[in-house]
Amino acid sequence: MLDKYVELLKNGEIVAFPTETVYGLGADAWNPSAIKKVFKQKGRPSDNPLIVHICSAEMVEDFAREIPDGARKLMERFWPGPLTMIFKKKPEVLDIITAGLDSVALRWPKHPLSQELIAQTGPLVAPSANSSGKPSPTKGEHVREDFGEHFPVIDAGETDIGLESTVLDMSTEPYQIYRPGAISAEEISEIIHKKVAVAKPSTEDTAAKSPGTKYTHYSPHATVKWLEGNPQKAQTNALYLLHSLKLQQSNDNIIEYDGNYQQMAHELYDRFRQADHEKLDTIWIEPLEKKDLSNPYVQALQNRISKAAG
Ligand code: TXA
Ligand code: MG
Repeated sequence: MLDKYVELLKNGEIVAFPTETVYGLGADAWNPSAIKKVFKQKGRPSDNPLIVHICSAEMVEDFAREIPDGARKLMERFWPGPLTMIFKKKPEVLDIITAGLDSVALRWPKHPLSQELIAQTGPLVAPSANSSGKPSPTKGEHVREDFGEHFPVIDAGETDIGLESTVLDMSTEPYQIYRPGAISAEEISEIIHKKVAVAKPSTEDTAAKSPGTKYTHYSPHATVKWLEGNPQKAQTNALYLLHSLKLQQSNDNIIEYDGNYQQMAHELYDRFRQADHEKLDTIWIEPLEKKDLSNPYVQALQNRISKAAG
């Protein structure tokens, strides 16, 4: 089933493939002209570095110059899985991948098809397979929506997690998280016995260290807003995403998650796209509870929704 796609990738073409987080837009990590196509296809600024996707411990050694002990423990515990780790890079890693930084981001994805693919092609760079500025794709059809009906997509239906991986910088201490995901700072700290900070988004320092954080991702056309109070009546032409509130009426555009944040994370980007298909004006989201912030999905949702709400 993968033969055609392996062939394309080996020939320097780009292909979208499923991971357990979101769909990635793959290109051969050793082929600069293939990687150029990734930036062009997405309309991605060239100062935003890419994650290299691998599928073995040996492949790590081809990219990372220094691997701290803590990182080895995290690999053991969380790879394959939704954790991206940033290391000091080897000199031979292509500059186009790292946007001139002295570090490289690595991830071993869990989806069986991504592993099978990388085993046959070798390491692949893969940003999320959306046009820059759009929500990340969690379905094959989202990729085709952005890149056209005939774009090569290894379509495996919905991705499992629905939000992008945790990005953890291990290239300098103290270790920092630039992007919260399904694996939390607490879980990481527990394994490495060190405190891990979560970088403040939208600061100059964070933007310099992880350029992707300065771009407003994830935004649908509809305006995303935090809901204030408990409205008696839902607006027409709006989508409501509620984790604990209940509205009096019920309709297809009032979605109640009843505390199931994992499901909310799983669906968020699809709901954003749905709102745009229906040409809705506003997406109202119930503010997440501070008391639930120990839940990694709540941290990740807070980060993505805040960005979308600008
Ligand atoms: O779940 C995911 O991580 C998905 C799937 C496809 O694996 N990929 C993904 O890639 O979300 P992308 O390119 O959309 O986001 C990568 C983030 C960007 O914010 C980028 O700036 C940051 O990782 N990044 C990559 N390399 C970096 C580096 N060397 N130093 C700091 N930040 C880096
Ligand atoms: Mg992205």
